[in-house]
Amino acid sequence: MTKRALITGVTGQDGSYLAELLLDEGYEVYGMVRRSSTERFERIEHLRDRLHLVHGDLLDGSSLGRVLEESEPDEVYNLAAQSFVPTSWTEPVLTAQFTGLGVTRLLEALRSTRRDVRFYQASSSEMFGKVLESPQSETTPFYPRSPYGVAKVYGHYITVNYRESYDLFAVSGILFNHESPRRGLEFVTRKVSHAVASIKLGLKDELRLGNLDARRDWGFAGDYVRAMWAMLQRDEPADYVIATGESHTVGECVEVAFAHVGLDWKQHVVQDERFMRPAEVDLLVGDPSKARAELGWEPEVRFAELVRMMVDADIELLSR
Ligand code: NAP
Ligand code: GDD
Repeated sequence: MTKRALITGVTGQDGSYLAELLLDEGYEVYGMVRRSSTERFERIEHLRDRLHLVHGDLLDGSSLGRVLEESEPDEVYNLAAQSFVPTSWTEPVLTAQFTGLGVTRLLEALRSTRRDVRFYQASSSEMFGKVLESPQSETTPFYPRSPYGVAKVYGHYITVNYRESYDLFAVSGILFNHESPRRGLEFVTRKVSHAVASIKLGLKDELRLGNLDARRDWGFAGDYVRAMWAMLQRDEPADYVIATGESHTVGECVEVAFAHVGLDWKQHVVQDERFMRPAEVDLLVGDPSKARAELGWEPEVRFAELVRMMVDADIELLSR
């Protein structure tokens, strides 16, 4: 029988890659979208005819119940969130509502349908924050450094709690940063790739950034959605760290991106206090051994290749 999946956050970066993967696997895919005065479905435009879009919002529990009734899913992937860390300081309560409590609303709606559904929660390496050990694994304690990180810790533990309390097949993927040409323009890798492409094409001359010393474990979103799916195919529910195991500074990302188009980053990059954070996460580097051993998961795209892919895609986009 054809399996059905529901993706919240289907219009986001990960939602679009996951929808592609599930359609390729033969799933009937439902995507939850929220109402807006202007439709912004660019990332899923190429899939529109193959997707069922259903209206709902993580802020409205009754809408989630209806979405579940309509889609009758075997698997639910909760990717929707307010996902930009700086916004979580300017809109901390809304971030808690979407990113934290939204998970409980969805789990409650699932519980009341009493169906045998598998649930995936998009947890984050941002939960490790001011890291207590390196590399970070499934057993590393959390120390979040932003209202977003705090909300994700809540979402993570409520998922664990519903698994233990109600015997739900509910798992959390603790994903480290993952990027792609579909990444939002405000995140640092895409901000860099888009600016490098613009500078190369003579459309601008300067790129203003914050902390160049922060280190992240960056992978490719297309690789990471494979891990989400694999987690829901296991016999027993468990949480996994998904990462490359390599970390690089923001400065290295800048260097690789500018060098790829033959430019010297020092001529264009300006540090700007406005992009510094009230509390920074200095270093993230994940240990994906459990995912490698139990899911057979490996990242295929590495850091420099990822940065170059994003620059090339932005040059193509801006040249159109
Ligand atoms: P994204 O591009 O920012 O997408 C977020 C999605 O959530 C969008 O589809 C957005 O819809 C939707 N959304 C936001 N608020 C909503 C609400 N109240 N009700 C319904 N939908 C709502 O994020 P992403 O990079 O794909 O990340 C996917 C998930 O993984 C997020 O939960 C994120 O926090 C988490 N995560 C991401 C990373 C990463 O590096 N990318 C790492 C770890 C965890 P609109 O299009 O309508 O705004
Ligand atoms: N966005 C941004 N803009 N970040 C900058 C800038 C800038 O101009 N300059 C330096 N940075 C630094 C930030 O201070 C941070 O240390 C790093 O670049 C990465 O920032 P983002 O790309 O915004 O990602 P993030 O690590 O804060 O959060 C992302 O990854 C999390 C997983 O660890 C998001 O995708 C989260 O949703 C996700 O959970």
